[in-house]
Amino acid sequence: MIHLKTEREIQLMHEAGKILANCHKEIAKIIEPGMTTMYIDQFVEDFLKKHNATPEQKGYKGYKYATCASINDEICHGFPRKTPLKSGDIVTIDMVVNYNGALADSAWSYGVGEISEEASKLLQVTKEALYKGIGVSGIGTRIGDIGHAIQTFAEGEGFSVVREFIGHGIGPTLHEPPEVPHFGLPNKGLRLKEGMVFTIEPMINVGDWPSKMDNNGWTARTVDGSLSAQYEHTIAITKNGPIILTEQL
Ligand code: MF3
Ligand code: CO
Repeated sequence: MIHLKTEREIQLMHEAGKILANCHKEIAKIIEPGMTTMYIDQFVEDFLKKHNATPEQKGYKGYKYATCASINDEICHGFPRKTPLKSGDIVTIDMVVNYNGALADSAWSYGVGEISEEASKLLQVTKEALYKGIGVSGIGTRIGDIGHAIQTFAEGEGFSVVREFIGHGIGPTLHEPPEVPHFGLPNKGLRLKEGMVFTIEPMINVGDWPSKMDNNGWTARTVDGSLSAQYEHTIAITKNGPIILTEQL
């Protein structure tokens, strides 16, 4: 069942989203070569604590960290680690914030130091792909329209769209219906209704889309070793259009 949210519930999720957005903005300011993703994970925990929020991912299905930190060919669910980031790396930091029981989910990819032209194009295209998906979202939009907008744009730029991981409804729990693929056919699938809150979180690869799972049972990486990036927002469908609950203002 899809939980449709009231205006009040959306407002509370927006509060969580604002904390999350500000946390990403702080990461963007401090990230640099030599820093570890374990340090960033601790920074996020401290930041959330200061804002009376908690990291929902910690303890979720046995996951141990506040963030996922996926570097270069890692697609998602990378573990924070003590290896320093190098200039030229790209890293996706993904987190879910719980504020008074309301959730928001947002991942952002960062370039570390000087990154290649290819990496920089990947970041730009992946972020734009997310906004293409948001741009077509509204009451009456079909789920396939979102995937189609993302897929045609990303593939048109010569990149591929990960199939195995998709967006999801959110609230009251982290993963709720509906499923939101980042690929698909226009005019197919469920119609969006007022009060739906879900994530759009395209993972885009420079090479081909298939992924393989690390032995840790969590981390997915590209089979061909190519770079992968991800941007994710939590959005609410309202009569005034989609509201991005995790927008970085
Ligand atoms: N934020 C991730 C998502 O988009 C959740 C990752 S699973 C976790 O659904 F266990 F790490 F939380
Ligand atoms: Co998500």
